[in-house]
Amino acid sequence: MSKLWGGRFRKQAADLLRQFNDSLPFDQRLAEEDIDGSIAWAKGLARAGILLKSEAAQLVDGLEQVRREWSDGSFEIEAGDEDIHTANERRLTELVGPVGGKLHTGRSRNDQVGTDFRLWTLRACDVLDQQLRDLLTALIDHAETHCDIPLPGYTHLQHAQPVIWGHWLLSHFWPLVRDQQRMRHARAQADELVLGSAALAGTAFPIDRQALAADLGFSRISENSLDAVSNRDFAADFLYASAMIGLHLSRLSEQLILFSSSEFGFVRVDDAYSTGSSLMPQKKNPDTLELTRGKSGRLLGNLVGLLTTLKGLPSTYDKDLQEDKEPLFDAYDNLCIILPVMTAVIESLTLRPEKMAAQLEPGLLATDLADYLVKKGLPFREAHHVIGQVVQTAEARQIPITDLTVDDLKAIHALFEEDVRQAFSVEGSLNARQVIGGTAPVAVREQIKRARQVVGDG
Ligand code: ARG
Repeated sequence: MSKLWGGRFRKQAADLLRQFNDSLPFDQRLAEEDIDGSIAWAKGLARAGILLKSEAAQLVDGLEQVRREWSDGSFEIEAGDEDIHTANERRLTELVGPVGGKLHTGRSRNDQVGTDFRLWTLRACDVLDQQLRDLLTALIDHAETHCDIPLPGYTHLQHAQPVIWGHWLLSHFWPLVRDQQRMRHARAQADELVLGSAALAGTAFPIDRQALAADLGFSRISENSLDAVSNRDFAADFLYASAMIGLHLSRLSEQLILFSSSEFGFVRVDDAYSTGSSLMPQKKNPDTLELTRGKSGRLLGNLVGLLTTLKGLPSTYDKDLQEDKEPLFDAYDNLCIILPVMTAVIESLTLRPEKMAAQLEPGLLATDLADYLVKKGLPFREAHHVIGQVVQTAEARQIPITDLTVDDLKAIHALFEEDVRQAFSVEGSLNARQVIGGTAPVAVREQIKRARQVVGDG
């Protein structure tokens, strides 16, 4: 009885284990990197005199053949192929015979997977860097073309002070510049050779790790084999940079969704990036922006997931680390669509300056009126109080504050004079803010110049 049951259980467990344990379904994405790493390793073994030159050449030829099979889709996965490393080695050995069994000399999948994953991350960072650059350029171009259009600036989503479009749009540019720096930091973290660490204690063969690093394009070498096989800081850095991109693009999306609503109507998202409703014929929905906002959730989730996995681990390799790859693949795949989509949305975004102008109500100038009194010598706190009274008077008469006459103002405070009219305009308010980083059109033009320099177009 127990044998029958036991046998059945063992068989089922074996299948389940394979399903659970195998990473090939997702780590086959590392096929190229795994082959690059193995070719470098074969050459390293030959350099160290562990393989004959002819043996290394056979391995390299075989590995190139395996690479071709992956790229033309003819690679046949077999049931025993646990992960990309075992799959490639199995196929290599079929192709080149017993010498294939020499490739894994002095190496472990632990330093192998670290190497492959770092190579992948370096390439991913380079692709994202270029995509970020395209988005940054689109933001600058749009900001420059429509630079001087005034609109209300908001705090607490309430009318605050006038700003111009160029300034507003570039407020979404600088966070993405910081994200680009974060992504470059992740790249710099990934840029370290861990091959030669073997399982945990370092390879027992006299491998020239400097030469290996040069072959694979790494600029540094890990100092501690125990740390090297468990170090996934670069992956966490990558996901942090991704999460921040998600967060910043979610914020931009949310604001554009709001600005494109009937109530605001400041912007129009191009038809090519909007969708309709199956029921309501009049609808035009900003789905691209909503999806971008929505996807920020998974970008954040990927970071939290990996950090949570890493948190419980002792140093060196543990199988938990196999969970490191999918969050990065997912973040990368999503950013590879989010970034170009956002670039296209910005490039095709149209503005409705008349809608913005209609919202430039005089209340936005209350601070300028206070500043006017300050320039006449009144302490700011007192000026703030006086303007409060101005607002109250206008409200009591149910007129905008700009409709108060100079005499009305004089009655509230003796420092008001005829020249108050100039201070009391959107243009005057904008032009007053010429400080570096301010919203005055001249200052924003300078900002645009610096933005172009930062992106490398300046
Ligand atoms: N598939 C494994 C991973 O992705 C490769 C390393 C396996 N190492 C081991 N000692 N089982 O992490």
